[in-house]
Amino acid sequence: MTRIGVLTSGGDAPGMNAAIRAVTRMAVDAGMDVVGVRRGFAGLMAGETTPLNARSVGGIIERGGTILGSARCPEFLTEEGRRVAVDAARAAGLDALVIIGGNGSQTGAYALSKMGVRVVGVASTIDNDLPGSEITIGVDTALNIALEAIDRLKTTAASHRRAFLVEVMGRDCGYLALMAGIAGGAEVVAIPEIPCDPEAIAKELRAAYERGKSHAIGVIAEGAKYPAAEIAAYFREHHERIGFDLRVTSLGHVQRGGAPGAFDRLLATRLGAAAVEALRNGRDGVLVGLLRGEIATTPLAEVSGTCKPLDLRLLHLARVMAS
Ligand code: F6P
Repeated sequence: MTRIGVLTSGGDAPGMNAAIRAVTRMAVDAGMDVVGVRRGFAGLMAGETTPLNARSVGGIIERGGTILGSARCPEFLTEEGRRVAVDAARAAGLDALVIIGGNGSQTGAYALSKMGVRVVGVASTIDNDLPGSEITIGVDTALNIALEAIDRLKTTAASHRRAFLVEVMGRDCGYLALMAGIAGGAEVVAIPEIPCDPEAIAKELRAAYERGKSHAIGVIAEGAKYPAAEIAAYFREHHERIGFDLRVTSLGHVQRGGAPGAFDRLLATRLGAAAVEALRNGRDGVLVGLLRGEIATTPLAEVSGTCKPLDLRLLHLARVMAS
């Protein structure tokens, strides 16, 4: 009987559990044996596995995080660490691995596949910076959390005619910040792709007041050139000239936690099931993602070590919509 392992790696994302459930149930339905690998690549290297069946993945589709656990694993970045992982996968009797994760995880997946392990990746990261999928598992939920925060801050900002900065996750990619800025009606968005200094932010926010707005919201990506706290410090330092201060809310890991929304549950279910289908059809060394609204596979070789570029035309849209 074919035995497949499933693991979640890197930063957790809401919907990972739905993907584990889909992989397990699809594989069991196809007569395969399924093993969960705990703590991502770290657990793979240590041989930490647990049998999974249709019942053991019950009641998890609505849960955030990952029941298998995840880890950042520096040892796996070395040739020696990867050799240990390959040997451990063989010792566990795994015929193939489904790796649910983002950029670093899929780069690791590619490394394993080059070493002879049958691997299929499932696109999952809140950052939405992974090529091979126009949207990845967790993005929609994380975006909605950012939006809820912006909506709430707007009401208190408007009551006091205050200016707020909301710092959102996304590592080196401005996707979450830009989308949250557009959907939340922010007055200014700062992203890593287009450097923007505190003086420019002050100009945009002041212009918003001058246009008669009762609030001014800036969305700052965590990877932007100037972090929100530094921008706020600049405003304090130049208070007399700028004329107002900033209050800062940094969402941090709040954005990654909690229950996945409907979109992420469905996306994760479709991608997890498609990963098993790919293996059944004799395919491996690929990432399963969503392209033009359809499930699609992309060779891991094309995905590994690269980042999906952000559509910068959306920055112009954000500016016009803030008018
Ligand atoms: O990649 C997902 C992500 O949440 C990024 O947005 C963020 O930069 C990073 O992970 C945080 O990593 P950690 O949870 O290891 O601090």
